Amino acid sequence: MSRPDTPNLQHNLRFFDRWASSYDHSLFQFWMKKFHVPILHELENKRNLAIVDLSCGTGQLLSSIYQQSGGNVNLSGVDISKEMLKTAKKRLPSSVKLYTADVHSLPFASNTFDYVLTTEAFHHYYDQRQALQEMKRVAKKGGQIIVVDVNFFFFFIHWIFQKFEPGCVKINSKKQMRQLFENAGLTQIVQQRSFLFSIMTKSFKP
Ligand SMILES: C[S@@+](CC[C@H](N)C(=O)[O-])C[C@H]1O[C@@H](n2cnc3c(N)ncnc32)[C@H](O)[C@@H]1O
Repeated sequence: MSRPDTPNLQHNLRFFDRWASSYDHSLFQFWMKKFHVPILHELENKRNLAIVDLSCGTGQLLSSIYQQSGGNVNLSGVDISKEMLKTAKKRLPSSVKLYTADVHSLPFASNTFDYVLTTEAFHHYYDQRQALQEMKRVAKKGGQIIVVDVNFFFFFIHWIFQKFEPGCVKINSKKQMRQLFENAGLTQIVQQRSFLFSIMTKSFKP
């Protein structure tokens, strides 16, 4: 179900379309790239898998996965921002398929991917339960769903983000994130802090 009239989606669209041209050069990249580290670690030595990066932005994580695997992976990227995807297209080999779409309504058949990933974007999703259901739907049985998202130790910092970061909907505590995964019917949930400001939540589709 696409909801193009959702104010938050429109907010995100405008914000990231505007940011796209300078996104890769911004000082924030020091921060952004840290979110990719646990995923690259997870995918080390993995080959011949179907992987989708949701909210792939300018394609930096996809590019790192491609290089790490020597190109032996079937990669797809999705983002709501056409401008972010324009940069991703320039960066990535043509074998990486890119889609302009909302994560709440993905353009894929059920049971398609071995890994469904998203980094530094989950807090922008206007219906996080629905987004997780979609992630589960497109994962294969036994496939993995991995969310790496912002997490600080203090609720107050989350509150500041929610108030001032454009398009931010909700930053979940570690416990809230686990609860969302459990409610989505995902299993073998493992959570791991990476650096001071993010948490990876990994799980399997049963
Ligand atoms: C902070 S950027 C993170 C980009 C990339 N994952 C990274 O690690 O650099 C957040 C991304 O989420 C995307 N986004 C926000 N809401 C979305 C939605 N509903 N569906 C798809 N992408 C969305 C934005 O367009 C933006 O590219």
